[in-house]
Amino acid sequence: MTEHEIDEVTGQRTTGHEWDGIKELTSPIPRWWVYTFYVTVAWAIAFMIAMPAIPLVSDYTKGVLGYSQREAVRADIEAVRAAQGVFRDRIEQASLAEIRDIPDLFDFAVAGGKSAFSVNCSQCHGAGGAGAPGYPNLNDDAWIWGGKPDEILDTIRVGIRSDHPDTRFNQMPAFLADELLTRDQVSDVVEHVLQISGQAHDPAAAARGQPVFREQCSACHQESGKGIRELGGPNLTDAIWLYGGSREEIRRTVALSRNGVMPAWEDKLDEVTRKQLAIYVHALGGGE
Ligand code: HEC
Ligand code: HEC
Repeated sequence: MTEHEIDEVTGQRTTGHEWDGIKELTSPIPRWWVYTFYVTVAWAIAFMIAMPAIPLVSDYTKGVLGYSQREAVRADIEAVRAAQGVFRDRIEQASLAEIRDIPDLFDFAVAGGKSAFSVNCSQCHGAGGAGAPGYPNLNDDAWIWGGKPDEILDTIRVGIRSDHPDTRFNQMPAFLADELLTRDQVSDVVEHVLQISGQAHDPAAAARGQPVFREQCSACHQESGKGIRELGGPNLTDAIWLYGGSREEIRRTVALSRNGVMPAWEDKLDEVTRKQLAIYVHALGGGE
């Protein structure tokens, strides 16, 4: 193995390296490859001069073109805002009924309402408004305070048992804790609620519970138990429960009461966003 061995087949010099009889030639790298390499080096240097590139201790080289990603994003946001501004102005001026009749405005409202919902509402009402115990499902047609667009808008604005001066408000008493009913009367009235909601119940106890219900509960739930919208007294005869329809859950509601709080959004979300939310919630499927 000499330094300057010449390969017989190609007439090319070898590097002198050999593995199992295979020798390495000293062929040059292809021209196109070398030129491409030079171009990338030139590009890298030009890029470093033109664009922000090299980190310094507390800053970085800005580049002669003065490009800034932050500025670019800001300009993009400005452009989107300006485009949205037209829609937002139209939403501000239109009534909810008008918005629902104009397809592009409606689509814009639903899209905006959906994103505002996932930020502000989904932690209580669930993604897509499916609800959870204590937090009503907003997809179904059971409404405690009303499912018309303007009613929903009002609920969002003032909240329920919130700190807003005009809040929707109604306080079911804690019948056992406040000693309005005895333990037996609570048991009886619970059986009556089980009966009117079509569930298994003790008929004798339910019969004893009926007059109790008429006296103590009908003011907010109606004698039939179908509820009173204006007062936010839920319908107890459907299979839809805010807190749960089992004997134990109903007993807990009657004995201790619940009084869930829905925050008011008048100070936290602007009117356009609240309108978008009302349109979105109404469009979830249960709107009236
Ligand atoms: C902190 C929890 C919480 C948040 C956040 C919240 N809600 Fe509620 N919401 C409730 C509770 C609790 C109720 C039921 C109150 C009651 O009637 O007892 C309710 C009720 C409602 C109702 C009335 C439902 C009916 O049947 O009449 C609507 C509409 C509603 N929420 C929409 C929203 C929207 C839109 C948002 C977001 C802007 C939102 N909620 C954010 C807790 C919340
Ligand atoms: C002053 C009005 C008022 C009176 C009186 C009242 N309720 Fe209620 N009730 C409500 C309100 C408002 C709610 C809504 C839930 C809440 O408090 O968050 C409710 C909720 C309920 C629920 C839970 C419904 C659900 O979907 O989970 C049950 C059950 C119930 N009431 C039964 C009764 C019974 C039984 C009585 C009589 C012993 C009674 N209520 C008296 C106002 C009243």
